[in-house]
Amino acid sequence: KKKLILDLDTGVDDAQAIMVALATPDVEVLGITCCHGNTPLENVLKNTLRVLKVCNRLDIPVFRGCAEPLVDKKRHAGDFHGKDGLGDVPDPDAPGLELLQKQKASEAIIRMVKENPGEVTLVATAPLTNVAEAVQLDPSLPEKLKALYIMGGNCECTLSVCCLFMLTSTGSVQPPCFHTARGNTTVCGEFNFVADSEAAHTVLDRYTCPTYIATWEFSCRNSLPWSFVDVWLGQDTDKARFMDKISQHTRKMVQTERYQKELVAGPGFNSCDTYALAAAIDDTLVTESEEVAVTVELEGTYTRGMMVLDYMDLLKKAHKVTILKKVDLERFKQMLMDALK
Ligand code: BDR
Repeated sequence: KKKLILDLDTGVDDAQAIMVALATPDVEVLGITCCHGNTPLENVLKNTLRVLKVCNRLDIPVFRGCAEPLVDKKRHAGDFHGKDGLGDVPDPDAPGLELLQKQKASEAIIRMVKENPGEVTLVATAPLTNVAEAVQLDPSLPEKLKALYIMGGNCECTLSVCCLFMLTSTGSVQPPCFHTARGNTTVCGEFNFVADSEAAHTVLDRYTCPTYIATWEFSCRNSLPWSFVDVWLGQDTDKARFMDKISQHTRKMVQTERYQKELVAGPGFNSCDTYALAAAIDDTLVTESEEVAVTVELEGTYTRGMMVLDYMDLLKKAHKVTILKKVDLERFKQMLMDALK
């Protein structure tokens, strides 16, 4: 079985990712570590247990992680996921937090990886605070990981504008010519990397294991058509009814013009975190990717938190990450359908 640890800030797309993982027969979820992010940590913990309850999998250990970023001020994504992170649909029967494990998330990651050296894939779809803390506590952690999959950062879209600017201001394209990116939270910043930029920087510098990044633009390029979403969430099962209910708020948000025009593949829904999870589960799902050294901007007035891609190898980083570009959408849809059965 493929062994996964999920590091989440359970909002709507994290919930979808959990369900895909749990519905895949050859996957074992060793544990779920929770981080601040889409909503405050207390909600993340509660949401995670709620999803596990719907899946009848409260046996999966859930760990409390960091409640705040390393340096940044706390930031949440209530507009997108609802204030409580799951569409603000109250659940009077939500499981209590006494079900949580006692061990701290970063320590639990280190322990679970140590117990299964070379076998664990860590899927991180939250701000990277827990993941950064883990490598600070145990610098040898990346050597023992099989792979790290991250939903976060951004990679493209303003390449021509950037080059044009360099051309017109300097007379030629000269180094440093880094490519700026399209944000969803700040002008150039994707939510998870902006919500803890130092953590993202630490992780991209120190995790030298095979690393795969599902960027914001990647999810925009592989969006799910609304006709599919209706069939997917309209299935006659408890899981589908739960998902349909908690997704309503996000659906309204996604259906606004500002958001829809980001979706290069046409109108629809991009379940950001689920792409990273699905790619981790099935390494043949991604049909296009590229390898490049990356880092994260920590200074810029407009660009703090932006992922920087070093196509010209100016940073001289030996470690290259794999930037995911395209998925086999039909197979991805099938995974989503199965997850709610
Ligand atoms: C990321 O931000 C969060 O709101 C989503 O859950 C996803 O992890 C997309 O930028």
